[in-house]
Amino acid sequence: MQEKLNKTINDVNNTIIHSNEDAINFQKVYLSKKGILNDLFNEFKALPNSEKKEVGKLLNQLKVMALGKLKSLQKSENTKKEQSKIDLTMPAIYDQVGATHPLTKVQDQIISVFKKVGFGLSEGPEIEDDWHNFSALNMPKDHPARDMQDTFFIKIDPDVLLRTHTSSVQIRYMKENTPPIRIISPGRVYRKEDISSRAHCIFHQIEGLYIDKDVSFSDLKKMIAYFVESIFGKEVKTRFRPSFFPFTEPSAEVDIYWGLKTETDYRITKGTGWLEIMGCGMVDPNVLENANIDPTKFSGFAFGMGIERITMLLHQIDDLRLFFENDLRFLKQFQVN
Ligand code: DAH
Repeated sequence: MQEKLNKTINDVNNTIIHSNEDAINFQKVYLSKKGILNDLFNEFKALPNSEKKEVGKLLNQLKVMALGKLKSLQKSENTKKEQSKIDLTMPAIYDQVGATHPLTKVQDQIISVFKKVGFGLSEGPEIEDDWHNFSALNMPKDHPARDMQDTFFIKIDPDVLLRTHTSSVQIRYMKENTPPIRIISPGRVYRKEDISSRAHCIFHQIEGLYIDKDVSFSDLKKMIAYFVESIFGKEVKTRFRPSFFPFTEPSAEVDIYWGLKTETDYRITKGTGWLEIMGCGMVDPNVLENANIDPTKFSGFAFGMGIERITMLLHQIDDLRLFFENDLRFLKQFQVN
């Protein structure tokens, strides 16, 4: 019987089961009632006790092996079924969706507000020359107003600098175009400032320019009121405070009433409840002349605001550095699902 057993073990071992048909056959030959294994078990019963131990071991080994063969086919059938369920043409589901940077979001928001009333987009270079950034804007060399904006100059050519504001784009656009002009110019600007929660050496501005016949200060006021209402809501109070910028005359700064509810409100508004959001004014006739526009025929207004400031107010962000660190915990809060 031992010999028979060894032969069967060998046979089972060498059997390869590919298909269901093979499996049915295998089952019939080895594992059915009339199959080889049953015969062997019957033979085993008749053996003298002394041989049973040895043969029993082999018989069990054979049984485990035969059942194992069947199972292995089932397993591979199952994985085949699983695989056929996967549709490789289906678009992937991304669990890591990116987010638009809050500054970009607010910048787009501001652009769309002005687009609605006919403003187009115009951009200029971040590496500027002295004339576009200062001189043409009524700030000749040694003008004290230049001190308001600490500038990065390029050592080898003091005429080349990183623009300190987007007002330089006004000049570029006016030189290339004739009134009526209605543009906004978003972009990055640079100043030599120490980095803190309230200041950075890189930040973003949006400049606006409107030039036409008979543009007045009341047009400017109306436009700013429309802007504030669109961005901050109808209930927000606005005020114009007289100010000075070399490129506008008269000039003003616009404040919105932020309130004095919390300690932070006291700190950021210096106890007044009011917060400055932009500078503006009627374009100085000298500036129009520098850009080849006749100030006796045309007038206009300009305004400029910091995108960081507006974003901080809209989203209650109290540290400017967060915008530049790209910490995912911060950026993910602006994810839209
Ligand atoms: N360029 C100014 C700044 O960076 C902001 C500004 C003020 C822009 C008044 C203007 C303006 O167009 O009319 O501080």
